[in-house]
Amino acid sequence: MKIITIIGTGYVGLVSGAGISDFGHNVVCADINEDKIKQLINGQIPIYEPGLYDLVDRNVKHGRLSFSNDIAGSIENSDIIFIAVGTPEGANGTSDLTAVYEVARAIGNSLNGYKVVCTKSTVPIGTGAEILKIIKDTNKSKNDFDYVSNPEFLREGSAVKDFLWPDRVIIGASNEKAFDFMKDVYRPLYINETPIIETSIETAELIKYASNAFLSVKISYINEIANICDAIGADVHVVSKAMGIDGRISPKFLHPGPGFGGSCFPKDTKALIAMAEALGTDVKVVESAIEANQSQKVRMVNKLINLFNDDVHGKTIAILGLSFKAQTDDVRESPAINMIAALKDRGAIIKAYDPVANENMKKIFNDLDIYNSWEDAVCDADGVVIMTEWNEFRGLDLPRLKDLVKSPNILDCRNILNIDDLESLGFHYDNVGRKKA
Ligand code: UGA
Repeated sequence: MKIITIIGTGYVGLVSGAGISDFGHNVVCADINEDKIKQLINGQIPIYEPGLYDLVDRNVKHGRLSFSNDIAGSIENSDIIFIAVGTPEGANGTSDLTAVYEVARAIGNSLNGYKVVCTKSTVPIGTGAEILKIIKDTNKSKNDFDYVSNPEFLREGSAVKDFLWPDRVIIGASNEKAFDFMKDVYRPLYINETPIIETSIETAELIKYASNAFLSVKISYINEIANICDAIGADVHVVSKAMGIDGRISPKFLHPGPGFGGSCFPKDTKALIAMAEALGTDVKVVESAIEANQSQKVRMVNKLINLFNDDVHGKTIAILGLSFKAQTDDVRESPAINMIAALKDRGAIIKAYDPVANENMKKIFNDLDIYNSWEDAVCDADGVVIMTEWNEFRGLDLPRLKDLVKSPNILDCRNILNIDDLESLGFHYDNVGRKKA
């Protein structure tokens, strides 16, 4: 059992902290934000993440998980310190590492014996070396420590499952002692034979960007294939399925949609390009994926406008789904933002509904008309757009929807509605790369 401090209680820090405590270690999740820590101590989880409440509650009750504002004290008491603070987009697509370096200085100031310092935040290649230097420079008593890169692969909405049952664990370190410390953290995963990749710090840092950028490319690729399907009347679902059966391709992340969003893919693809440029090389395929993603968002707006013979002025449009994907209340870079902004520009009247993200979208469009149910949002609408693949919309009661709307126009940006049902009910519909009417 190790004593561990996780600094940063965003979704990565909180899920990792709760997950590691579930592996049997003693974990303190520390943050300078007093309100957040107060909330957590009171049993409130600041983000919507399925399964997280139970995971936190269980481990707090077992005395393995606690929360603190005392960063220095928590570092002093720990064997391992995880850096899990945010790395938002900085200038020209680079990552803003202010918070990471601040934590590195705090660690340097509080080192009081051998510890492993480990970064979970997504940081550009070379950040590990810089963190090492900062800790060495600030560590007056010259205590011994090792640095590890341990990137996370958690998806919002399934982060708890991804943490407890990961496909792989990446440990980038420079000596056996550090590898052993980290393998001890993840020991329970050995039972599931989870692959643990031991590598250099720089390689670990790159694996994270290479993985996220690859998935972004995969999504943009299938979106462009869907656009070809639109043009020739083919069905992208069948294309995806047939492609995915090939083990070399895999069926995952081949779902066309309104373009990728969230706090990771848009930021990490730009950061990879910035890193490549700084190294005098390039990742043209990733540049194209970003460009295709922007076009995809515009394409969805155009599809909707086409349903109204190119004029949505004065039309009431119900937007179902505001978060960037299902199972999260996160609206960062959500394609729904582009849709709302474009429709507002063209004089449409918007009624919006999301099962959990209404309030977050209201912070972006403070005059947004939000509703507490899809039924209220679609009532008397001239058209409906599905932006997020919530299960609630997959099982939409289409006859009821048709009764509630003024005109049965629907754009399914997630391809979750049954085309035969839409047809038999006389909907005027469109989607992403499937049959339209
Ligand atoms: C992503 C990665 O999947 C995680 O492995 C990684 O840890 C995380 O970024 C991160 O760097 O922190 P996340 O952004 O939470 O996770 O969500 P994803 O499920 O990857 O979806 C990203 C976007 O792609 C969403 O907008 C989603 O709707 C879209 N998407 C995904 C598609 O349009 N089609 C697909 O087939 C899959």
